Amino acid sequence: MTADTALLDRVVQAGTAPDAEIFAVVEDAGLGAVVGVLVEEILFRCDAPINVMPVDIALDVTHESERHRTVFRMVRDRPIAILDGEEPVIRRELRMNVVDLVRRLYGRADHPRTGDFHDAFLPTRPADLTELPEIFASTNQASGALLSGCTVPRIDLGALSVAYGSDKWASFHWYTAHYEKEFAPYRDRPVRILEIGIGGFSGELGGSSLKMWKRYFHRGTVFGLDLFDKSELNQPRLTALTGDQGDTDGLVALAREHGPFDIVIDDGSHENEHVRVSFEALFPYVRSGGLYVIEDLQTSYFPRFGGTADKVAGSKTSVGLVKSLLDDLHHREHATYPGHPTSVTEESVVGVRVYRNVAFIEKGVNGEDGIPRWMDDEAWIALGAIPPSAD
Ligand SMILES: C[S@@+](CC[C@H](N)C(=O)[O-])C[C@H]1O[C@@H](n2cnc3c(N)ncnc32)[C@H](O)[C@@H]1O
Repeated sequence: MTADTALLDRVVQAGTAPDAEIFAVVEDAGLGAVVGVLVEEILFRCDAPINVMPVDIALDVTHESERHRTVFRMVRDRPIAILDGEEPVIRRELRMNVVDLVRRLYGRADHPRTGDFHDAFLPTRPADLTELPEIFASTNQASGALLSGCTVPRIDLGALSVAYGSDKWASFHWYTAHYEKEFAPYRDRPVRILEIGIGGFSGELGGSSLKMWKRYFHRGTVFGLDLFDKSELNQPRLTALTGDQGDTDGLVALAREHGPFDIVIDDGSHENEHVRVSFEALFPYVRSGGLYVIEDLQTSYFPRFGGTADKVAGSKTSVGLVKSLLDDLHHREHATYPGHPTSVTEESVVGVRVYRNVAFIEKGVNGEDGIPRWMDDEAWIALGAIPPSAD
């Protein structure tokens, strides 16, 4: 872990910790370094500015008697610039305590969006009053864009998927509605998430879904794995790793270095053999309480992906794997129980939820007991029940 990553990690963790932890991070790293982390996050989250006239907005972050100023230049069709040296024309000054800004960015999704900052709107009289209508409108639009980056975004995963160019919604897949339902309990947590398959194959950089997850999991650390080098995507809270999902040793090494993960998503080659190899290598590195997701189950029926050309998917397919997990979930009810050593999946699969073409496998402690084996007719009758063997 580099110094930058370690600081980011501490700031993210502090988002839901007592104020004293945020103070401690600022004391250790310095206000400027902490603001640097926060500003990078704001730039990632901001909506694109729509103002035609350039607008400079100052954000003052304070801690006790200290103040750290960042000036953002916002204008349509250009990346937001941080002014350094150039003389700004400040149209708005926002002042916020570092604790409040950390909470806004890395606190709970329902953290308030108002009542925690000082604002000076058009602090100086514009030189040319004929421009005033345009200055008003542009300052309003630029401020809206900047403030969109200073909160946990309200997210429609489908819209975000389309905006970033992922095929997880409104293409030939309709996954994001399922993701919203399944991922909601994890959204506020500092999750570690690994997605196999970054996108773009050998020709393009890809990264659409990784950026989508980074936005959705505002406290999350996102890893992607792809056959092709996509490290150009690397940025705070997002790392692109290179490797083959069919290589067990490589996957285990990756998981030892970067795991355990709260969520693993397989959106890689969709070859049935790869899906199985990846699951067997990585499921042990999913945290208890976490999820393993397999996309594109339809390849179970496509022979060129190693699927079966039949109505019933074979045991070596992805659907076959998911069906076997249903058996493992119920292993205590097997006639052979408890006479055989239990497998990782028997011990830890606690939920298997399948939607069209996508499966969510929940990990936990599969330890609930069933009906005692010694329950015979006499015992059922003693309970006042009809014995199962009775006609
Ligand atoms: C469907 S794309 C992923 C799309 C991305 N998850 C998204 O939603 O934007 C599949 C990616 O898997 C990668 N891939 C194919 N075979 C792989 C393998 N054996 N190991 C790792 N990645 C692989 C491809 O290079 C490609 O970039």
